[in-house]
Amino acid sequence: MGAGVLTRPYERRDGALWCEGVPLEAIAAAAGTPAYVYSANALRERFRALDAALAGVPHRIHYSMKANSSLGLLRVLRAEGCRADVVSGGELMRARRAGFAPDHIIFGGVGKRRDEIRAGLEAGVLLLNVESGAELDLVEAEAKAMGVVARIAFRVNPEVHVANAHEFIATGSRGHKFGIPWGDVPSVAARALASKHIEVAGLDMHVGSQLLSLAPYRDGVERLAELARGLQAQGAPLRFFDAGGGLPARYDAEEAPDLALFAEIIVPVVQQLGLELIVEPGRFVVAESGALLTRVLYRKPSGGTDFVITDAGMSELLRPSHYDAYHAIEAVRPRGGMRTVDVVGPICETGDFIARDRLMDDTVPGDLLAVHTTGAYGYVMALTYNSRPRAPEVLVDGTRWAVIARRETLDDLVRLEAETLDWKEST
Ligand code: LLP
Repeated sequence: MGAGVLTRPYERRDGALWCEGVPLEAIAAAAGTPAYVYSANALRERFRALDAALAGVPHRIHYSMKANSSLGLLRVLRAEGCRADVVSGGELMRARRAGFAPDHIIFGGVGKRRDEIRAGLEAGVLLLNVESGAELDLVEAEAKAMGVVARIAFRVNPEVHVANAHEFIATGSRGHKFGIPWGDVPSVAARALASKHIEVAGLDMHVGSQLLSLAPYRDGVERLAELARGLQAQGAPLRFFDAGGGLPARYDAEEAPDLALFAEIIVPVVQQLGLELIVEPGRFVVAESGALLTRVLYRKPSGGTDFVITDAGMSELLRPSHYDAYHAIEAVRPRGGMRTVDVVGPICETGDFIARDRLMDDTVPGDLLAVHTTGAYGYVMALTYNSRPRAPEVLVDGTRWAVIARRETLDDLVRLEAETLDWKEST
């Protein structure tokens, strides 16, 4: 199963762009702009493709909610049999509200607080992923206090090299903050195996994100397998081999990930170990299902740059300014002609841009644009900087659409702030 199997949910019909069976112009007219749109069928298709590719081994797909944690979207995935990967007490709450059973949730994260560890244990999540010796101590202390056995996986840093990743989304190389440093794993494991409040049920890694080459997976899987064999020999009751996330999405001209090759790398190794495979994809599942709709407010030629000022900017999509990320942009109803422009938002920051030096459809104020591959790490990274209310999220399913998160109101923006101050005297 290679490139081409995954369909693109955004298609042109009679000169305008649609998401599945709904014209984007209709959504913009009713919900306003900016707005995020997601295709439900694109989510289902990606989940099913990955599920089918991994059919050769018992496996569980835990969607990494950090990519997009909207309840409406989570419910679509849950109905498919997808499970959840959370990294905070907040995501745990969302997973539960979306109806995921506790044992369909794994709880990772490099800096879990005590109350979050407790919430995970109280809920009875499938696995708490432990990322350091110090976290192991805290998990053990909480489990002891609660009179339970904590089922954990070690998230290890596989210390593999990943080429091509932006330095901010590389996670699995030596010296990164994530995971237990490779060399420390035996001593941390020995302590965990000796504890009656800890069950060492799995091993976990995440080699990186947007992995356009599967080579780092191969290296990571081999290293994790080596560790698994060592722990099994020490009597660890391992059940799960968690290969993390990282499958890429198509932002530009990339190929779809080769899921058959992905399976070929992972499945035999996990089979041989007699373990169950877990994967934690985020971006692969949701990125391509999403488009950010925005309207052109102004055109402004300035100092040799042709600016297209839109009603979305870094507050709606941080990826271009934070990672220099590329997102394809097209006019929903192109009027003909192309032009090289900078697409920028209304935020008072020079770093507020969606695209720079981009040859794209020529536009005039009022035109609607679609910014593609924004289903992952879009809404979840939205800011309210400049007191800009967050945009709504819309789910399209066939010929129907619904708002799954309404637009924030101006009142929402100040709802946490005290009108009258409750002063405490320092004594
Ligand atoms: N599992 C773990 C332990 C992770 O750290 C991550 C992502 C995932 C799974 C999901 O990775 P994915 O399949 O989505 O690549 N905000 C950045 C991406 C940060 C990803 C961090 N970890 C971006 O917009 O590119």
